[in-house]
Amino acid sequence: MDLTLSEEHEALVRMVREFAVREVKPAAAEIDRHSRFPSELVARMGELGLMGIEVPVEYGGSGLDPIAYVLAMEEVSAACASTGVIMSVNNSLVCDPLVKFATEAQKTRWLEPLASGRKLGCFMLSEPEAGSDAAAQRTVAVPDGDGWIIDGTKNWITNGPQADTGILFTMTDRAAGHRGITAFVVDLNAPGVTRGHKDDKLGIRGSHSSQVVFEGYRAGPEQLLGKVGEGFRVAMSTLDCGRIGIAAQALGIARAAFETAAAYACVRRTFGKRVIDHQAMGFMLADMETELEAARLLTLRAAAAKMAGRRHSRESSMAKLYASETANRLAKAAIQIHGGNGYVTEFPVERFYRDAKITEIYEGTSEIQRLVIAADLLKA
Ligand code: CAA
Repeated sequence: MDLTLSEEHEALVRMVREFAVREVKPAAAEIDRHSRFPSELVARMGELGLMGIEVPVEYGGSGLDPIAYVLAMEEVSAACASTGVIMSVNNSLVCDPLVKFATEAQKTRWLEPLASGRKLGCFMLSEPEAGSDAAAQRTVAVPDGDGWIIDGTKNWITNGPQADTGILFTMTDRAAGHRGITAFVVDLNAPGVTRGHKDDKLGIRGSHSSQVVFEGYRAGPEQLLGKVGEGFRVAMSTLDCGRIGIAAQALGIARAAFETAAAYACVRRTFGKRVIDHQAMGFMLADMETELEAARLLTLRAAAAKMAGRRHSRESSMAKLYASETANRLAKAAIQIHGGNGYVTEFPVERFYRDAKITEIYEGTSEIQRLVIAADLLKA
């Protein structure tokens, strides 16, 4: 098995790393401190082709593969995890289901502006009473002429305050359970949509989330994504891709924590020697790098499984589970290596620690990933 990157992938990493180091990383602390949505970086990511990495060129994307997506996500997230998740949601939770389920007319209308970065997207599955239990949808779409009238409240919607376009999940037949869920693609600037206040969060403070409320929103037949009753499959298949994005975001946070801690341990001196020369600290750094590499391999394996064109729920869940828990362990260790300096905002590691937590929660908690892996195991 050859694990070397292709020349195209190497070139992409160089390009994204240069952008991340020059433009994203210097802004990260300020974005976090002021909970500022980084519009200028989102616009730059559009120009660089990072908002629709896997979308075919004819629909405004970069036409690259899932490995390229992981590589780019890791670079951006190592510099700023908030900027990383804005990019991830647009790529894998919005562009991906449009590539997979939209008609030609829908791709031309909705996908092209999202993939080229002219518009921003969000994914509206979660509700106040439907987080982990995604099938418990209360948002309803009731037939009205040739379309539907939609009412309901979506919760914790990443990019919710800024998004122009959303993938929306509704209940069209409550008696049918998860087979009664139907997906739509919606214009969030149309009448019948309001957005709540942005959530005040522990971490990823530059990525805004909010409620999005639908009251008498009219969706035309051309907004139906997939078939009536097929929405749960649309959501789950989208999350198979999204979880690769979050694994890559976690990988970026983990790498930032490891590199920052290693650099600090090489210059900081205690008891007459460098921190890294104390065996307890050296071993901690050795474990950190080993776990980081293991998380990267699992994430790239999930991307390779997606590239092979088969269902990759198990690989995606394993990558997301392991990478997110690695990011949390490494961010915690990075604080420990920094000692008192790790606890103050002059050093970035406390931000990595706060940013890492969400990767164990959104796009399915660690417990949900274990459920998906265990369910797949039973099928084998
Ligand atoms: N692809 C295609 N179909 C799938 C699928 C997949 N990956 N996973 C399940 N399905 C299908 C099943 O085959 C089954 O089909 P039938 O209709 O033929 O029965 C159907 O879906 C139901 O499957 P399950 O019985 O496994 O469903 P469940 O109700 O037990 O739930 C779950 C499964 C894994 C717990 C699911 O509810 C889940 O993933 N929950 C977590 C939700 C989540 O991740 N939310 C994230 C919100 S988005 C977000 O966080 C974005 C952000 O902020 C950045």
